Amino acid sequence: MYQHFDYKSKTLHCDGVSLETLATEVGTPFYAYSLSSILDRASAYVNGLKPIGGKVCYSVKANSNLTILKELFAIGCGADIVSGGELYRVLLAGGDDVPIIFSGVGKTKEEIDAAIDARVTCFNIESVDELDLIASRASLRNAVAPIAIRVNPNIDAKTHPYISTGLYDNKFGVPAKETLQLYKRAKDIPSIKVSGLACHIGSQLTTAQPFAESWNFLLETVRQLGEMAISIDHLDIGGGLGINYGDGKPCQLSIAEFCDNVCNATKSLANQDITVMCEPGRSIVGEAGTLVTKVIRTKLNGSKHFTVVDGAMNDLIRPSLYQSHHPILPVREKDNEQIPTDVVGPICESGDFFAKDRKLAKAEAGDLLALMAAGAYGASMASRYNSRPIVAEVLCKDSVWKQIRKRESYRDLVALESF
Ligand code: LLP
Repeated sequence: MYQHFDYKSKTLHCDGVSLETLATEVGTPFYAYSLSSILDRASAYVNGLKPIGGKVCYSVKANSNLTILKELFAIGCGADIVSGGELYRVLLAGGDDVPIIFSGVGKTKEEIDAAIDARVTCFNIESVDELDLIASRASLRNAVAPIAIRVNPNIDAKTHPYISTGLYDNKFGVPAKETLQLYKRAKDIPSIKVSGLACHIGSQLTTAQPFAESWNFLLETVRQLGEMAISIDHLDIGGGLGINYGDGKPCQLSIAEFCDNVCNATKSLANQDITVMCEPGRSIVGEAGTLVTKVIRTKLNGSKHFTVVDGAMNDLIRPSLYQSHHPILPVREKDNEQIPTDVVGPICESGDFFAKDRKLAKAEAGDLLALMAAGAYGASMASRYNSRPIVAEVLCKDSVWKQIRKRESYRDLVALESF
């Protein structure tokens, strides 16, 4: 069972709060998060990197709810952002004085201007064109923009192809062999300050080996930069630590072990005044969240059994998009026989499923099911497909809960449209 989730009186609780009670209070579907779990995990990073003075920049895309951002900033996390919208959220959540790293291959001039004005800690540059655009925008504003080059080391992260980012086949970063040349160019631009070196090879990495490979590569690049008399003040090692999706391939590293590995691998940077930064997302919020959905009905198509629920791929797209596995637990424990069933939503396409042929205790209309490990890339990837309003979000801690996002109404769905 995930940390801070347990059954009490046969009912599943999140951080001491009954998910049945929440369903009555906020309706279904809804996301519930354990704040204790989020803070435990984020603190494990913050404390784990303390021996080397490392910094944690939470990857906002994993879950960008304002309250969650605020809680993470309060315990010393910074932010890794990839859009003007994420920058806006970070500033609104009180993150104006935390380290902010701006990553992404498609930064526009408007986003760059906003980030320069917000004095972000670093732009992670992913192309020559981007470097030149940032330089000219900074120059126009009489500013000096701090940059790191995000290098693409061509390392296989051994993860789902859609979330692998460190291969030449992927759109990310600057190819290793062009990196030093780009540093040389950046060094001579007056409106640019060369500040760091960055890398992110993928997400949901479950073993230590690809990380170690990319760190070795980065350390070698730092050495080469030293030889060229280019000094940096930080090394950004990216995010990517995986979690347990109950698919038989749990992450083999705890956050503490991961941080120990980072500390050991980067010891040599201690006397060079280079701060290590990392950008975890999933491993902080993933296991802390659940999507609770209600069974509308069950049906048989021939001998095929379906459990139709009120949540759908627009609420949690991971199973449809990556064929990812999320454990499904009954909110109220039952002794019903276990049958193989497809758990599907009401959306009009066959790709709308949460599980296929999953053995679950036979459910009936009105039963609540909890899709576990849904705190990362769940709510943040939600859409309104089939004109389904975005669902409510609830944060729980020590048996107390608060709603941190209202359920949208039909009025909200059409609020920005006009005839
Ligand atoms: N830094 C950069 C530059 C990234 O691109 C990402 C994730 C992270 C940090 C955070 O990685 P994490 O620690 O969360 O693995 N929607 C997909 C995941 C996409 C990840 C994209 N980049 C999913 O649901 O699996």
